Amino acid sequence: MLAHTILLGLLPVVIAQQPQYPPAFPLGRPTLASAANYAPSVTPNVADPTAPNAQEECPGYKASNVQETNTGVTADLTLAGPVCSVYGNDIEELSLSVEYQSQNRLSVRIYPKYLVPGNESLYILSPTLTPQPDAEPGCTKANSDLVFTWSNTPSFQFQVSRASSGEVLFDTYGSVIVFEDQFLELVTSMKPEYNIYGLAESLRSFRLPHNFTQTFWNAYNLDNDQELNVNGHSVHPMYLETRYANGSSQSHGFYARNAHGQDWLLAAETVTYRTIGGSFDLYFVSGPTPKGVISQYQAGIVNTPVLPAYWHLGFHQVRWSYQNWTNLQEVIDGYADAGIQLEGIMNDLDYLQVNRDFTDNPGHYDIRPGKEFLDRLHAAGQYYMPILDPNIYVPNPNNASDAYPTYDRGAELQAYIRNGNDSWYYGVEWPGFSVWPDFIVPQAQQFWTEQFLEFHQKLDYDGFWLDVSDADSFCTGSCGQGLLGENPIHVPFALPGDPNSSVAVDYRYPEMFNVTNATEAASASSAMMSQAAAYPTPLVTPTPTVGRTLATPGVRNLTFPPYAINNFLPGHSLLKQVISPNATHNDGPYNSTEYALQFSIVGIPYFGVETCGFNGNADLELCTRWMQLSAWFPLYRNHNNRNTIAQEAYRWATTAEATRRIMNIRYSLLPYTYTLFHKANVAGETVLRALAWEFPDEEDLKAVETQFMSGPSLLITPVLTPLATTVQGVFPGLANGTIWYDWYSLQAISAAPGENKTLAAPLEHQPIHVRGGSIIPIQQAGNTTATSRKMPWSLLIALDKNGEAVGELYLDDGISLAPNATKNVELSYANNTLRTSVSGQYEDALPLANVTIAGIKSRPHAVYGQHGNHGWKTWSGGRAKLMHGDGDVLFVTGLDKATQSGAWSANLELRLQ
Ligand SMILES: *[C@@H]1O[C@H](CO)[C@@H](O)[C@H](O)[C@H]1NC(C)=O
Ligand SMILES: *[C@@H]1O[C@H](CO)[C@@H](O)[C@H](O)[C@H]1NC(C)=O
Ligand SMILES: *[C@@H]1O[C@H](CO)[C@@H](O)[C@H](O)[C@H]1NC(C)=O
Ligand SMILES: *[C@@H]1O[C@H](CO)[C@@H](O)[C@H](O)[C@H]1NC(C)=O
Ligand SMILES: *[C@@H]1O[C@H](CO)[C@@H](O)[C@H](O)[C@H]1NC(C)=O
Ligand SMILES: *[C@@H]1O[C@H](CO)[C@@H](O)[C@H](O)[C@H]1NC(C)=O
Ligand SMILES: *[C@@H]1O[C@H](CO)[C@@H](O)[C@H](O)[C@H]1NC(C)=O
Repeated sequence: MLAHTILLGLLPVVIAQQPQYPPAFPLGRPTLASAANYAPSVTPNVADPTAPNAQEECPGYKASNVQETNTGVTADLTLAGPVCSVYGNDIEELSLSVEYQSQNRLSVRIYPKYLVPGNESLYILSPTLTPQPDAEPGCTKANSDLVFTWSNTPSFQFQVSRASSGEVLFDTYGSVIVFEDQFLELVTSMKPEYNIYGLAESLRSFRLPHNFTQTFWNAYNLDNDQELNVNGHSVHPMYLETRYANGSSQSHGFYARNAHGQDWLLAAETVTYRTIGGSFDLYFVSGPTPKGVISQYQAGIVNTPVLPAYWHLGFHQVRWSYQNWTNLQEVIDGYADAGIQLEGIMNDLDYLQVNRDFTDNPGHYDIRPGKEFLDRLHAAGQYYMPILDPNIYVPNPNNASDAYPTYDRGAELQAYIRNGNDSWYYGVEWPGFSVWPDFIVPQAQQFWTEQFLEFHQKLDYDGFWLDVSDADSFCTGSCGQGLLGENPIHVPFALPGDPNSSVAVDYRYPEMFNVTNATEAASASSAMMSQAAAYPTPLVTPTPTVGRTLATPGVRNLTFPPYAINNFLPGHSLLKQVISPNATHNDGPYNSTEYALQFSIVGIPYFGVETCGFNGNADLELCTRWMQLSAWFPLYRNHNNRNTIAQEAYRWATTAEATRRIMNIRYSLLPYTYTLFHKANVAGETVLRALAWEFPDEEDLKAVETQFMSGPSLLITPVLTPLATTVQGVFPGLANGTIWYDWYSLQAISAAPGENKTLAAPLEHQPIHVRGGSIIPIQQAGNTTATSRKMPWSLLIALDKNGEAVGELYLDDGISLAPNATKNVELSYANNTLRTSVSGQYEDALPLANVTIAGIKSRPHAVYGQHGNHGWKTWSGGRAKLMHGDGDVLFVTGLDKATQSGAWSANLELRLQ
């Protein structure tokens, strides 16, 4: 460490604007640099062979005072033997409350019978922070799909079964319930080879493994945000289980509402649920289809997702290192010149003055040229969304020129998270020592809203992109205490692109770049070695290991709980890279301690990735395939780090061509996708889907994760390997007569049930298939979502084996949170007749221009139509044209005259003869 610091000290440091960061590893303050980015180590219990087994040590509970009614069960639970205090203090008296909440939902709650005033939040998660459903009126055991049964022998245990079949879905029989202040455990027996899905967020197989621990604790790895099989940024303690039998399946769901650190141990025939605080607040939903479970979970429990604005579905570009407005304009022009849609441009930290929220970076992002830039952008129907991090820089108290009015306003409003009663909690984030708004107090919302509005007066931004909204801090504890005079400090590690550091330039390239670009690969590899030699990885003082914390009667140890969860960050400590669990909220008397900040659990269909990769360099092939794949993800954004090569979609001719093709498809499908989001919003339906959800009776699909569906109608088979010109995929439903049409040729695919069919996939081509039985509303792609929305309508009708199809379309203004007019259009095709059924008042004056039908067996020669109350007329001839394509494809064109009052202004019928 010392040698390294001296070496850095001798090298020139580039200082441009004031105030600037000190160099990556500041001289004279090695204490912060070395101690800050790690925390004492602990051994997680799941990796400690000497850790006691609560199932062997603890006595469980006995139920008494049991009241069973037709709406549920209540009882007292009393510890059934001597306290075990295995990882905390046993709670000796508990209450049980079981509710038949709706036909498909049952809740089981077990919580301390006596709550100490001021300490409730340690056990009870407030419904204002995380939704908590109530029973629906009139719901009883008699009309419930689920049944709760219990036994007191040898101690209290329970089962939840499916009423129709008696099948047990959740089963604690044979195990004890453990309830301590810092450790809760419940074990359920599972069927061998069980299929469970969910328990987000973690990068791992779709179907969860059977020897696996899912830990829940918000965290991410700065060097590699794609660490497999570990805890991630968010916590969703919910799983979907599917059981196959006799050629069909039934599914149910389990949600454990809890915001504390957790380990879920998945073993061959049990799942063990452990949490280090809170209570058992369990919800079971009965499905019985996978889609039913998801909708019951979202619509019934955690609330359905918001409907994104229409423009959120366009394509966005960002990069850390866009230096100024001119840079942004160059990128926008690059997309326009390449004929690739660009909906929005985003800024990473570059636009801010030394990374401080609600500021402008002088000399780079000045307000006046910014206004000209934004006026031009908005006139072109495009959007600007800069980054926003939830941390507020603390100005240096000894330097008057470091004033930061944003900080002052939050402090004045008492809007920040505290470190006990004495001070704010000072962690480290991008700008240096920082505080965080405490969003559970209303003044934090007031502070935030004021800042948004004030900044908007200066800069006409269209939204913020929220960065690291999990509670991250790059030092241990309230590390800025007494050190604020050092601000602005650099984060205690080199940031990508920092000059004179081991991460100044990222020389990594994708797999097989050594084959496609051998010369470049060789020179990158030697440059990487010289950089590594010049700037060796700093020595890090080993982290002290803390032994297991023993449970002390009456003592709760928030920072080192006696049961150590398996947080994946080096050292496993709960203090690593987060706001410490003993930081305090700011509501009322500053001692109502709450364990950790957690965010609401929601269904999040608006999802996307850093297309072409954030870290490391992209190459032509990787970026091309990734632009194709991400075109199906609702958030479609290309983003990379500042120490890598440029990777905008127009940088390689092949990538540009592939992107134009796929993006035209994406934009033409916006009405379909927006309708899916509407269904997600009103009913908890999904946008991207597993094949297993659409075809729940096909057991072969239970682990398919390399193909997916967009809504019910489109099957996507992406290429996920380098140097491939083909890709393999399955086609579900064939045994039952499902027909799949190639998106491009509209020809039915020929494949056998279960066949892993090889599909042509040259680099510019993404295989897409349309499910027979679907009607897909389409508008030809414009250069933005706004111009796309002005294109005439088309329908793609893919017929099923009976010559029928259905579809739907939802319309509103695409921007209002509560639109004052909406429109729903039901689309159906049967007996050679297309029918629409329109409801709602939203006005859309665009005509229906074309109807394309795939799989039509007869060869019609005439079209009759009626629109509104105009009566049946022959439309072929003047008002419509018929054209037969290859195979069984029919194109009906020129319908715009007949529907010029607006395709959906009235019901429409179109008969082919
Ligand atoms: C903590 O909060 C309780 C309940 O509001 C209050 O009675 C008590 O005085 C507070 N203790 C301290 C040390 O502030
Ligand atoms: C489960 O995983 C652990 C740790 O990876 C391993 O030691 C053990 O052998 C595995 N057990 C089975 C049954 O596969
Ligand atoms: C914008 O940044 C680029 C570096 O990316 C620089 O070359 C250029 O001079 C800057 N332009 C303005 C107007 O500041
Ligand atoms: C939080 O815990 C840390 C580490 O155990 C300790 O140093 C700090 O004083 C605690 N803070 C408060 C406010 O209790
Ligand atoms: C290229 O790298 C891959 C690993 O990415 C390796 O398997 C392969 O052998 C290398 N090929 C050549 C020609 O060096
Ligand atoms: C790799 O090769 C491709 C195709 O020859 C070329 O377009 C591209 O610029 C090369 N990439 C790099 C980083 O040299
Ligand atoms: C919590 O546990 C750690 C590690 O065992 C110990 O160092 C610390 O003193 C304990 N804190 C309290 C408040 O008991």
